[in-house]
Amino acid sequence: MCGIVGYTGLQPAAPILVSGLKKLEYRGYDSSGIAVEQGGSITCVCRAGKIDALEQSLGAFQLTGSCGIGHTRWATHGAPSEANAHPHMSCDGKIAIVHNGIIENHDELRRILEGRGHEFTSQTDSEVIVHLIEDAYASLAFDVSEADDLVDAVGGRVPHQPTVEVRRGEPSLLAQAVNMASSLLIGSWAICAMTEFEPGKIVCARKESPLVVGRGVNGMYISSDMTALSGIAKEVCVLEDGQLAELDERTFDVFKAHDDELIRVTPSMTELDWTVDWMDRGRFSDFMMKEISEQPRVIRDTLEDRFNGSALTVSELGLTHEELNLIDRVYIIACGTSYHASLIAKNLIEGWARIPCEVEVASEFRYRDPIITPSTLVVAVSQSGETADTLAAIRDAKIKGAKVFGITNVIGSPVARESDGVIYTKANKEVAVASTKSFTGQIVSLTLLAMLLAQSKGRLSQGQIRMLFTELVDTASQAEEILKDTEAVNEAAFACKDAHSAMFIGRGMGAAVAEEGALKLKEISYLHAEAYPAGEMKHGPIALIEPGFPVIAVATESPTYDKVLSNIQEAKARGAKIIAVATEGDERIGEFADHVIFIPKVRDALSPITAIIPLQLLAREIAILRGCNIDQPRNLAKSVTVE
Ligand code: M6R
Repeated sequence: MCGIVGYTGLQPAAPILVSGLKKLEYRGYDSSGIAVEQGGSITCVCRAGKIDALEQSLGAFQLTGSCGIGHTRWATHGAPSEANAHPHMSCDGKIAIVHNGIIENHDELRRILEGRGHEFTSQTDSEVIVHLIEDAYASLAFDVSEADDLVDAVGGRVPHQPTVEVRRGEPSLLAQAVNMASSLLIGSWAICAMTEFEPGKIVCARKESPLVVGRGVNGMYISSDMTALSGIAKEVCVLEDGQLAELDERTFDVFKAHDDELIRVTPSMTELDWTVDWMDRGRFSDFMMKEISEQPRVIRDTLEDRFNGSALTVSELGLTHEELNLIDRVYIIACGTSYHASLIAKNLIEGWARIPCEVEVASEFRYRDPIITPSTLVVAVSQSGETADTLAAIRDAKIKGAKVFGITNVIGSPVARESDGVIYTKANKEVAVASTKSFTGQIVSLTLLAMLLAQSKGRLSQGQIRMLFTELVDTASQAEEILKDTEAVNEAAFACKDAHSAMFIGRGMGAAVAEEGALKLKEISYLHAEAYPAGEMKHGPIALIEPGFPVIAVATESPTYDKVLSNIQEAKARGAKIIAVATEGDERIGEFADHVIFIPKVRDALSPITAIIPLQLLAREIAILRGCNIDQPRNLAKSVTVE
């Protein structure tokens, strides 16, 4: 959830680190810091708050050194404060580290380290890492073996230079120390470390938390996310779990940890496209609006080459026609917005393919004992492809013998790598924390999957598949229509901006859309919002309604339209302010709704693709009117890589 950057090369490191951190800020933005080595020592600067705060304070430090590491944090252990911000320093100030992930045995390690004389300056789980490295380094570099001597070593009475020499071609002392320290950790980590004993060197290691090493014209780079390297590194090596990389200003080596040893491996390099700058907002004032506007393109790209005129073609599915045909149960596991997209798919898979389908929040699924047999298909839906709970659920499902299929937006992400097959959502980089275009990509992909299952089971004819596919493609131009005129949305937003709470209702497909609409509103405008299947209102939630209370109803044309209309009237009768998303040509809705946002007519099964757009726009507009940060809402981070 946090972001890591590192640089060693020919240029001053500080501006490169800050610019990299800004590109990663969407991943976590509670506090940040950098450590730069210059003149034989390491200077560490940390600040609470946004990276701008860090940047502003750097002027006072005159950092000209060309080797450094940086971090932007999303707090897990310890408040988002300057003291808890990374980098963390060893007791003697000679080693600095940054860390992403969670160290589960940090309490125990801290107790042991404190017993050995280490002094901690933060409440983070991460700080144990630097103290472990400090001990390991002392034992490797200064030829001390007795515990008492180690206490002396960390007490600052160590020589100024290592007394042990490393043979040419062997991993550095720092690399060995990081490896030794890592072997004591339980949890997940991406670690970057540097020491003033080895100027110009950075060592990084990972387990279950991504790290990428990049080679550029002016030096070597590290990042927890490829985004930070766009435009600066020409080629990258995505480190694998258990690998460790050692960088200097000219090159880098990759090692695989094998017991206590580090074995050199040949890095596998990928060229980066330098022409794309994912962090460019273009003509938009925020990434969320840019991403909402991209949805017609996402629909078209996700559907490209998926229908050959007579059948659907998803070659990367990883399942044969026969295997598909054998599937008798589907679980879809996901979190947040991806979970809402999955709720939509349940209706399609059961409705079209007639296969029982359960949708579960990944953090619940992984701790249950679901019924999984070899004919169970587990579908993992994740924009980032690195959500910790979703990944853990995939691993669990595989152990239990399920076929796992991933739907993700990130090529080569852990979800993609660990699934038997994958559909990519083609949303491209999503930067705003609130997911929008990836939701659309997910619904379109899940719709394809449902059609594919129905095709294999012979439940939908060739003609039906052709018709559905054509209508799916048409949703792209319908989305364009919706985006052209946002006046009705803006008026509705103005009417809701001062509310304290809002309720979203819908039935069938509309119920899942309502869930996603409520999530969008609460996460970016901080206006409390609940979503209920409209029929549930009378069973409790209607008690909340008082005059002026906003009820946002998904009331598009569907088999349950009349029922939704009745539920709207029940709310209206109690003074609710009704905002309805309805189908063009609906002449009844205006009688009951205070604000109507019309969308083009579309088949009920495909309606979520278009019906969600007004709700995304509504949430954004309300958030703007309430003065909120659209792209980086408080307390959140884009990728949730911790449990
Ligand atoms: O990357 P994932 O799709 O696995 O992320 C799951 C949720 O954290 C995510 O959908 C979150 O709810 C959204 N950012 C909310 O807009």
